[in-house]
Amino acid sequence: MTTPTNNPTATPGTPNASNAPIIAPSILAANFAHLDREIEAISNADWIHVDIMDGHFVPNLSFGPDVTATVNKLTDKTLDVHLMIENPEKWVERYIEAGADTVIFHVEATNNPAALADRIRELGARSAFSLRPGTPIEDYLDILEHFDEVLIMSVEPGFGGQSFMPDQLEKVRTLRRIIDEKGLDITIEIDGGISLDTIAAAAEAGCDAFVAGSAVYKAEDPNQMIQELRNTAAAVR
Ligand code: DX5
Ligand code: ZN
Repeated sequence: MTTPTNNPTATPGTPNASNAPIIAPSILAANFAHLDREIEAISNADWIHVDIMDGHFVPNLSFGPDVTATVNKLTDKTLDVHLMIENPEKWVERYIEAGADTVIFHVEATNNPAALADRIRELGARSAFSLRPGTPIEDYLDILEHFDEVLIMSVEPGFGGQSFMPDQLEKVRTLRRIIDEKGLDITIEIDGGISLDTIAAAAEAGCDAFVAGSAVYKAEDPNQMIQELRNTAAAVR
């Protein structure tokens, strides 16, 4: 869980209070043999995005609650935990105990997203849903009040390092319009293929938070890349 950090741009555990772009590096792209160093290398991040893959909902495996708890011990930053798993109902409590500040589940993996969101909030975390690129947003617009964040996938979930899908920005524009019309306090985050080449378009469409895996970890200086991504998004917003 989050405690205050020394990062002046961070807004731990809360939505986009300062209205500055939130940069959330994905540790999926980190070297797991040196997790402590890899987390230290992104000290300029606002949040840390934690990708959980179960080999069923997506055809790839990453790690589970124990590694999430280890990450939580290594940092005070907000943990934005993206569950790409079947049966998220069975797991949300375990991930919140492990230190998840925000729990993101996939709507394709549950029959009752509003109820699951309410449970996540009752357990003390921020609630979020995500959708595969092929899943329309329209079916979920009437349950937005149950959520603190929506994660738009701009790649097919399962792997880092894929190409950004610009057509997914239409969902961001729809969401931005509805959230603003209803006056809701919901963070719009985007995940997949975010880099210096794509972040401006995502910011322009209305995203508040930006996941970046390979762009950050493949950079020579990850902290500098985080700053460049932040500046690029801020210039548009
Ligand atoms: C994909 C994951 C992403 C991924 C992002 O399933 O949800 O968070 O790690 O990686 P890049 O930024 O490399 O596309
Ligand atoms: Zn993710």
